Amino acid sequence: MSKVDVLLGLQWGDEGKGKVVDYLAPKYDIVARFQGGPNAGHTLEFDGIKHVLHQIPSGVFHEGILNVIGNGVVLDPIIFQREIEDLDTFNLDLKKHLVISNRAQMIIPTHRMLDQAYELAKGDKKIGSTLRGIGPTYQDKAARKGLRIGDINEPNFLERYNELRDFHLHILERYDFEAKLKDEEEKFFKAIEVVRGFDILNTEYHINQALVDDKKILAEGAQGSLLDIDFGSFPYVTSSNTVAAGACIGLGVAPRNIGEVFGIFKAYCTRVGSGPFPTELFGDEGEELRKLGNEFGATTGRPRRCGWLDMPALKYASMINGVTQLFMMKADVLEGLEQVKVANGYTHDGQSTIELPLYMESENFEVTLNTLRGWGKVQSNNFDELPDGLVEYVKYIESSTNCPINMVSIGPDRTQTIFRN
Ligand code: GDP
Ligand code: IMO
Ligand code: MG
Repeated sequence: MSKVDVLLGLQWGDEGKGKVVDYLAPKYDIVARFQGGPNAGHTLEFDGIKHVLHQIPSGVFHEGILNVIGNGVVLDPIIFQREIEDLDTFNLDLKKHLVISNRAQMIIPTHRMLDQAYELAKGDKKIGSTLRGIGPTYQDKAARKGLRIGDINEPNFLERYNELRDFHLHILERYDFEAKLKDEEEKFFKAIEVVRGFDILNTEYHINQALVDDKKILAEGAQGSLLDIDFGSFPYVTSSNTVAAGACIGLGVAPRNIGEVFGIFKAYCTRVGSGPFPTELFGDEGEELRKLGNEFGATTGRPRRCGWLDMPALKYASMINGVTQLFMMKADVLEGLEQVKVANGYTHDGQSTIELPLYMESENFEVTLNTLRGWGKVQSNNFDELPDGLVEYVKYIESSTNCPINMVSIGPDRTQTIFRN
């Protein structure tokens, strides 16, 4: 009997999950997404190709792997159709290699409109949502109103769709939001036909049977732990459990069947959207890091806010997820800096602490920064030949998190990946 390995982001998303899932995928039989939806943008680069996936798991470019969209995902059929069409040129036999859970919640056009209406109403307290309808769809799931992908094959689907849409239209009216639905609904029903062409299954049975058959499964997280609905910087979070436990719920896997937990983090921090970011750099410093790291959102194109690595936050995320191995991304971005900084603690109401408070944006909250020496260009793909400054950085992080860094990534391409032997 095998176990499910989980790969997830330890920061505010965009750590490089897509790249690493694509890299590791050949070692697995199944790659499965367990939460989130089209708010995700996972970038893969190989053989001069750059591709961004939103809802389709990042194992899709390798032959012989089954990609599963799990029950914890919220799926937008329109975006799904677009993603399938964008993959056309790759001649992947998708109908054979991609299945969808019948229990995955469905994003309908009015969910996206509600997302916009709620954000507008929040004014300067807006979350900075990707406006993909994620929050309203999970809201309908919790309210036990939502439609699930399997419902498209039920005889009363249209009736239930109309009921949910009309309920949304009532709310939108109260928000004075003009719902332009005609085109969107047309696209939606066309897209439903595309979804119908795929196997819509009780994926939890397939996954559990695969474990019994000793098959290898990798669960691909979306967003990051600091965006988790319970443990992130609430209310500036997404609406799902992005942490490792989310893989149990989002795929139907028992906790005892979770194996390795790969925690991905950037050598610094980024965040898109609003919310606290203790180590954020502003002005020229922030701009420089954004330029060096090419930090613009893969889903919305928004500039990402940039700052130094936040150790208390990384330790917190490692603890909540039970991380067994750390993977450090984008080490190349800091190449050439004489010094790098890391937050090693906070001061909250005059007291030093390494615990994340309930609100990190409170007036009396500051970070304490530690300065470490930088590193030059990474010359070799051998872990034992990393530049001295980078080795010190790796050791510093390992000793504060008590967790090994088993991979360092030095570029967006598949080949720019250095594993420890
Ligand atoms: P994800 O959402 O976690 O999959 O990450 P994104 O794809 O949103 O953002 C990560 C970005 O960094 C993408 O543009 C990747 O191509 C790029 N990337 C990934 N790893 C590295 C790396 O080690 N170095 C550099 N320079 N870029 C990287
Ligand atoms: P990947 O999987 C980075 C952020 C949004 C916003 C907040 C809530 O590519 O790492 P939502 O649309 O979920 O209601 O937005 O979460 N956010 C992400 N930031 N990477 C992501 O996904 C994100 N998905 C959502 O910017 O602040
Ligand atoms: Mg992303």
